[in-house]
Amino acid sequence: MATTTILGIDVGASGTKGAIIDISNGKLLTERLRLPTPKSGKPNDMAETFAELVKLLEWKGPIGCGFPAIVKDGVAFSAANIHKDWIGTNISKLFSKATKQDVYVLNDADAAGLAEVSFGDPKASKGVTLVITIGSGLGSALFVDGKLVPNTEFGHLYLKGQKKVAEAYASSGARKREDLEYDEWGKRLNEFLLHTDRLLSPNHIILGGGISRKFNQFKDQLTSPTPILPAVFENRAGAIGAAMFAKQQVSK
Ligand code: BGC
Repeated sequence: MATTTILGIDVGASGTKGAIIDISNGKLLTERLRLPTPKSGKPNDMAETFAELVKLLEWKGPIGCGFPAIVKDGVAFSAANIHKDWIGTNISKLFSKATKQDVYVLNDADAAGLAEVSFGDPKASKGVTLVITIGSGLGSALFVDGKLVPNTEFGHLYLKGQKKVAEAYASSGARKREDLEYDEWGKRLNEFLLHTDRLLSPNHIILGGGISRKFNQFKDQLTSPTPILPAVFENRAGAIGAAMFAKQQVSK
């Protein structure tokens, strides 16, 4: 197989998704397979699901993994929507052992951002770009001229008047839990985006995650002066960026 071919896996709090990627252009070479993430959210259970997905895709070789936590040198430093046992766990070692392949791990939003900034809207590769992924949590990725500033975690900011962090109020998870209409939820997302806008003054904001497909249903609620672009790769970005990251690490 060509050396530009790598398996990318996007581990989420509710689904574990993977596809073999051509990292020279970000194209998926297989269908994107999805297994439900075990409800326990515990390391060994999630490692089992991860290994099962690798087996289903019949992959042997380096694997890139986007993971929903702060990740430094393969180790998890937070666990917002997964079991607290992850904190301090070496994700890279655990998944490498479970799959008998080398697994390279980064934050899931950082992975999605890498794909968007590299192969999405060309405007995103210049200046300061903020990528927000909307799912069970609110992920963030910050790029300066295409270079990632990892683990920003803006979804854990507190918005004015709120007792809980932004993702508990403005994620897709919050929308579902509280059964909010898109326009009602869009107003909440807008509060979050205005806040990050103030802090960072980005040149572009990209909104990712499955909900980017529904952009038209909430875009009228967004009043940020910064151009907001829906993600080009929607919920495929995480797997694509994870594969790109693995390639960068292997080539180091
Ligand atoms: C986590 C982030 C992650 C985001 C999206 C948040 O709860 O803290 O690390 O990127 O969810 O999965």
